[in-house]
Amino acid sequence: MGENIHLLVLDDEENILNSLRRLLITEPYGVFITADPAEALAVIGRHKIKVVMSDQRMPKTSGIEFLAEVKRKDPNILRILFTGHADIQVAEDAINKGEVYRFISKPWNDGDLKMILREAMQRFDLVQENRELFALTQKQNQELQNANAALKNMIEKEKAFTSTVSHELRTPLASIKMAVDILSQCLQGKIDISQAARLIDVAKKNVDRLARLITDVLTLTRMESGVEKIKLQEAQVNELIQELALVEKPVAEGKGLLLKLELEPFLPLVPLNADKITQVLANLIGNAIKFTEKGEVTVTSHFNKEKDQVEVRVQDTGRGIAPEDIPKLFQKFKQLENSASKVEGTGLGLAICKEILANHQGNIWIESVPGKGSTFIFALPHGEKKEVSRG
Ligand SMILES: Nc1ncnc2c1ncn2[C@@H]1O[C@H](COP(=O)(O)OP(=O)(O)OP(=O)(O)O)[C@@H](O)[C@H]1O
Ligand SMILES: [Mg+2]
Repeated sequence: MGENIHLLVLDDEENILNSLRRLLITEPYGVFITADPAEALAVIGRHKIKVVMSDQRMPKTSGIEFLAEVKRKDPNILRILFTGHADIQVAEDAINKGEVYRFISKPWNDGDLKMILREAMQRFDLVQENRELFALTQKQNQELQNANAALKNMIEKEKAFTSTVSHELRTPLASIKMAVDILSQCLQGKIDISQAARLIDVAKKNVDRLARLITDVLTLTRMESGVEKIKLQEAQVNELIQELALVEKPVAEGKGLLLKLELEPFLPLVPLNADKITQVLANLIGNAIKFTEKGEVTVTSHFNKEKDQVEVRVQDTGRGIAPEDIPKLFQKFKQLENSASKVEGTGLGLAICKEILANHQGNIWIESVPGKGSTFIFALPHGEKKEVSRG
């Protein structure tokens, strides 16, 4: 018997089985012919059976019962009842109930039998093909829908971002315009010199803010779009922290805060972009100072051997962050409502930090206990990572 057995025949009469064997041997599909219902059922699990043809009157089971069993095992198999004249009514009932695909009456005509079986095979293949095509179409449809939703979402975000940016740019611009308008009256001698000095100060502050905003937005969009591939070089994180501390210490002390460094000696070098990581440190330390009224800011460095990464923690004794606010922190332009009413900043700092770390294949996260302070931690991978380009 060939490899691909597609037809299974069950009949209890040995002479019928023999003539079917002779008749079907030349057919293009493999055939398994037996008088034993149990053996027949066992074949179904082992071969890709497409069509089952069964006699109706047999000692152990009826054809209808046997075909019901076949249906339970595999409902896709086409079931044919092979029956004598006396059982035609039974066969018709079974067809009407959908239990049987069709029947072939005995005695049969060789040519007709072959044709009916071939047709049944073709029908099975067609149904199978349709099912596969349908599944494929559905899958493609789903993929298309997902891609569409993702695109819509991106456009929405893009729109929201653009509108926030224009709003954020307009505010300082309005202040500058106002200051300049009033200053022009100064030329006409309408205001005194001390008022003028105050207005120039307002204008200067807003020009600075505007410049910073533009730089931040450009940095962020360039990094997000992947246009800017940042270059990484082996460097010592401790050195970056120490350099920055020179600048930040006076700022902390100006607020009556202590800036403490707890740096692990012999920290391994890691691939990083010194400017970008300094920017991350500056924002984290800047935030810690900004949002802490008393106590200290502690910067810790540590090599996590298990994860093979250098970890930097910036811990403060400030107001802390509520757990429900944590997911909002890294969003663009997000400044928490309870931030000491109007603190300086644009709310882009942490979004930029997150992008920078993503560009290093690193990570940034936060641990905070409201009222007790916050800890921001970032990690830089030490080991080789394939996608990191070095320069
Ligand atoms: N150490 C901290 N303690 C308490 N709240 C913090 C701390 N760091 C950040 N936050 C909260 O997260 C918000 C977002 O911080 P982020 O650095 O992104 O923006 P920003 O500091 O307000 O502005 P920018 O950094 O752009 O000047 C802050 O406005 C503040 O509400
Ligand atoms: Mg900040």
